[in-house]
Amino acid sequence: MSQARTAVVIGAASGIGWAGARTLAADGYRVTLADRNVDGARERAAELGEPHTAAHVEVTDEASVQRLFDDLAAAGPLDAVVNCAGFSNVGPITDMPVEEFRAVVDVCLTGAFIVTKYAGRTLREGGALVSISSLNGRQPAAGMSAYCAAKAGLSMLTQVAALELGPRRIRVNAIAPGFVHTPLTAPAAAVPGVVEDYVDNTALGRAGTPEDIAAAVRYLCSPEASWVTGSVFDINGGAHLKKYPDIMFHVNNLVQQ
Ligand SMILES: NC(=O)c1ccc[n+]([C@@H]2O[C@H](COP(=O)([O-])OP(=O)(O)OC[C@H]3O[C@@H](n4cnc5c(N)ncnc54)[C@H](O)[C@@H]3O)[C@@H](O)[C@H]2O)c1
Repeated sequence: MSQARTAVVIGAASGIGWAGARTLAADGYRVTLADRNVDGARERAAELGEPHTAAHVEVTDEASVQRLFDDLAAAGPLDAVVNCAGFSNVGPITDMPVEEFRAVVDVCLTGAFIVTKYAGRTLREGGALVSISSLNGRQPAAGMSAYCAAKAGLSMLTQVAALELGPRRIRVNAIAPGFVHTPLTAPAAAVPGVVEDYVDNTALGRAGTPEDIAAAVRYLCSPEASWVTGSVFDINGGAHLKKYPDIMFHVNNLVQQ
């Protein structure tokens, strides 16, 4: 009997990570749902049932990431790693406390580096690492300096890692989603005009769902993507063809009301 493929999804307690974990589980992977919100990850793993499990991880803490990957390695070969941990803040550069800038970079870029380091050591030959970057890694948004800079860095980190891990046939790719309805974007979606502005600036006329992104995760982890590495996939309804909404304009409008 062939062994089930194994995957770890980091940030699996919510949004895109949860959709990715569900999709990989449906494809027959044995999934570890890892998150700093371990209670959330446990609830999600219980929803999927056996043989899926939950684990705690804090991507900004190297010892925590190392512990996660040591445990995964002890359980057997690892086929796929999906890193979805990330968040943003909003505010103009001239007003932003440096520690708020650092906090976003710490999770979205340094955290992604730490995950890439241990994923690269642990994945089996031929395995896949998928990171969730962002449309904002290539399209600037006023008020989102830390997030845009960190995600641009993550897109480049992905390409460097693909070069370094290619000799072991480990494929490293990133997905750059546009605006996807998740708990992360709920506050922005509640600001009148933001979603409408985003949708107006797409070719396909809608915002995204976590399942839109999970479909790309599925492909990039699968053997069908065996000749794909170092790529950053725009999954955004065509938003990269136009411009990013002026979030600060909509926020300021709301504040002035
Ligand atoms: N939703 C969007 O529109 C959108 C667009 C582009 C990119 N992204 C990226 O997709 C990824 C997932 O976003 P989402 O919308 O699903 O957000 P979400 O908030 O719904 O889920 C993120 C999950 O990551 C976990 N997490 C956050 N920081 C962590 C840390 N330091 N260590 C471990 N776990 C951590 C959270 O607990 C949460 O469960 C993020 O990297 C985000 O930047 C989202």
